[in-house]
Amino acid sequence: MEVKISDSIKYIGVDDKDIDLFESQYIVKNGIAYNSYVIFDDKIAVMDTVDKRKTDEWYKNLENVLGGKTPDYLVVSHLEPDHASNILTICEKYPDIKIVGNVKTFSMFPQFFDYNIEDRMVEVKEGDTLDLGSHKLTFYMAPMVHWPEVMVSYDSTDKVLFSADAFGKFGTLDTDEDWDCEARRYYFNICGKYGVQVQNLLKKASALDIKTICPLHGPVLSDNLEHYLHLYDMWSKYEPETDGVFIAYASIHGNTKDAALKLYDILKSKTDKKIAIADLSRSDMAECVEDAFRYSKMIVAAPTYDGGIFPVVNDFLHHLEIKTYRNRRVGMIENGSWAPMAGKVMKSYFEKMKNIELAGTLVSIRSSLKDDTAKQLETLADEILA
Ligand SMILES: Cc1cc2nc3c(=O)[nH]c(=O)nc-3n(C[C@H](O)[C@H](O)[C@H](O)COP(=O)(O)O)c2cc1C
Ligand SMILES: [Fe+2]
Ligand SMILES: [Fe+2]
Repeated sequence: MEVKISDSIKYIGVDDKDIDLFESQYIVKNGIAYNSYVIFDDKIAVMDTVDKRKTDEWYKNLENVLGGKTPDYLVVSHLEPDHASNILTICEKYPDIKIVGNVKTFSMFPQFFDYNIEDRMVEVKEGDTLDLGSHKLTFYMAPMVHWPEVMVSYDSTDKVLFSADAFGKFGTLDTDEDWDCEARRYYFNICGKYGVQVQNLLKKASALDIKTICPLHGPVLSDNLEHYLHLYDMWSKYEPETDGVFIAYASIHGNTKDAALKLYDILKSKTDKKIAIADLSRSDMAECVEDAFRYSKMIVAAPTYDGGIFPVVNDFLHHLEIKTYRNRRVGMIENGSWAPMAGKVMKSYFEKMKNIELAGTLVSIRSSLKDDTAKQLETLADEILA
């Protein structure tokens, strides 16, 4: 994939179109890109490696741009194996290459590799600069975005921020699709827990004059950077992006589904706000997590199951809990044929979360919707929209 960054910065990343699940959980119908870059100057720096699934292709790209030259540095912004898998192979191939990382990179390094890199280590800390000639790379630590050793690098000559996994997106680089949607799904599922740390990174970035963002996944960003920075600011502050309601339901035999669909119609009749709905059993969980964070309000509808809540809803709520879902108004619908419990389980999740405003009405259905519970749906709709 030909990607233009600047005269001296070349793209050598690879597209992975046939991975079944990224990180063994994310459906990536358009694959994923492992990005990697080379900066040419008096010294040559390689910016991260790629997943071992694509080693050969990456070396072809690397050798092609090097044209017989030898790289001096490998900058490791993140040790996760989708980017760091080829640290040893590059050390073997280029015996003089130096590895640039921070104290946490090098303390974690032996956990992944049984290899002594002591005499290759260039340890950098916040604000340190690596002089490549006319390009100077400055390093900024981005701990827990989304691993402890993550750092970003800024090239003040071409005004490029190498942003590690931040500003990443699912999908190969030759995929023509909306950035926001797949970057949002990526953000909330991969970085969602770390809003505070992303805010810290954004503060550091705001002091830099950035023309181009080079992330480790997804397209290189150079036009309209304010748009991407604005979305990241909003997402990492846990602010809703869309004023509307996301209805997340599951249903064993269809009755909870009927209630969710009825609520959908009621909401549609009452407001012009966007209403989204998903069957948790049949949807991409990561997409449902994304939508929970995207909308300002959410209704969860769940059957009772073995004295608790239907498992897929439990899984959804568990995802929201670990991604630190917060700052939203939430309503609940439960269903049960003899001892409804789903509402209690949902409530216990939401009570543990920050700043969740629960609608007063828990619609409690006994097997199927009746006049009284149908009326309660009207009340719940008013409460959630209020
Ligand atoms: C395996 C299984 C376990 C269930 N456990 C409970 C339960 O513990 N308490 C209860 O009130 N209902 C329980 N139910 C009944 C359902 O919650 C109830 O029939 C509900 O109406 C299902 O809604 P649905 O039509 O949306 O699937 C269970 C159903 C199944 C299939
Ligand atoms: Fe990562
Ligand atoms: Fe990654």
